[in-house]
Amino acid sequence: MMVEERLSLRVHSCRFMSQLLVTGGAGFVGSHTCLALLQANHRLVVLDNYVNSSADSLERVCDLVGLKDRDALKVVQGDVRSPDDLNRVFQLSDKPIEAVLHFAGLKAVGESISSPLHYWDINVTGTRCLLQAMQSYGCKTIVFSSSATLYGSPKTLPITENSLVDPTNTYGNTKAAVERLLRDLVASEDSWRVACLRYFNPVGAHPSGTIGESPQGIPNNLFPVITKVALGQIDKLKIFGGDWPTEDGTAVRDYIHVMDLAEGHCFALELLQREDPQLLVMNLGTGTGYSVLEVVKAFEKACGVNVPYEIINRRPGDVACTIADPTLAQKKLGWRTKFSLDAMCLHSWSWQKDNPNGYIN
Ligand code: WQD
Repeated sequence: MMVEERLSLRVHSCRFMSQLLVTGGAGFVGSHTCLALLQANHRLVVLDNYVNSSADSLERVCDLVGLKDRDALKVVQGDVRSPDDLNRVFQLSDKPIEAVLHFAGLKAVGESISSPLHYWDINVTGTRCLLQAMQSYGCKTIVFSSSATLYGSPKTLPITENSLVDPTNTYGNTKAAVERLLRDLVASEDSWRVACLRYFNPVGAHPSGTIGESPQGIPNNLFPVITKVALGQIDKLKIFGGDWPTEDGTAVRDYIHVMDLAEGHCFALELLQREDPQLLVMNLGTGTGYSVLEVVKAFEKACGVNVPYEIINRRPGDVACTIADPTLAQKKLGWRTKFSLDAMCLHSWSWQKDNPNGYIN
């Protein structure tokens, strides 16, 4: 059963069609989650500054959903650090905003190491400003886009939510800091409902190829580099390290399809709205790891293309292997990933082929 069908089936059991704020809703994970939320008949206000996204993604989301009532998705170009912009979004909707899904933030590991002040400002100060606005408007439900990067180099595998939080880069530090702020907030007022979703590696695209990952400039992440090599826009994939302590010497990650990730957000929101105030911290991953070379081979086989590569030195901030233990999310949310590595390859390739230059800015 397709994700959309399953989600729409689940939707009918969903009692909360809410007015939501989605920060960073024009981004990669944000836009796919907006699609799932609209399919669940929620009404959205999106706040996005388009620094690493495009308004085009939300236009396409509306088309994919076949949205008739365009008031169900209102978009404000602005910044989570701006009290004026936050006031605009909280006053924009005819119904009070009942919950926030917070995606707005920067996420490039290498860039974070060279620009710590910028990353702490956007990711941490931005979240503090958002929470202050939420508090002043009486909105105390938030789903936070956290990251498995905060685990750093895991001591044991697979990684559970009780594994040591020990980031090895600025990006991970900012995610850990926001989680601590949220923990303090829940401890200070028992009316907050908070879910920190620790993503592993989001990849893929909507099966239609209409929305997908559209990094500005040279991509940092593996999948967009592979699709651009396959398209001929980049001459070869540089694999960072062939001497990791893994089966084939290349680093292992837990890649999760962005549609599975979007569904996990919908289920986490539903649980927060259904249950008493609480702090939820959950891993969103598949529980299966693949090395870079395994991904390259799977991509070539699934898509019938060639991905030339060269193994070079390791990248600063990288770790050998991260694999999720997703059992808590499976138990608490009744959520399970559905898309295979082949689907992740096929859907990201379909998006890239149809959109060689990503979204039109
Ligand atoms: C994956 C593997 C690289 C590019 C990032 C960030 C963050 C997070 C998940 C949300 C690694 C290797 C990559 C390349 C390569 N997202 N690689 N050549 O660093 O695991 O995590 O994504 O929180 O954005 O933490 O993802 O895709 O950059 O790298 O060999 O040109 O591919 O070394 O082993 P990463 P990635």
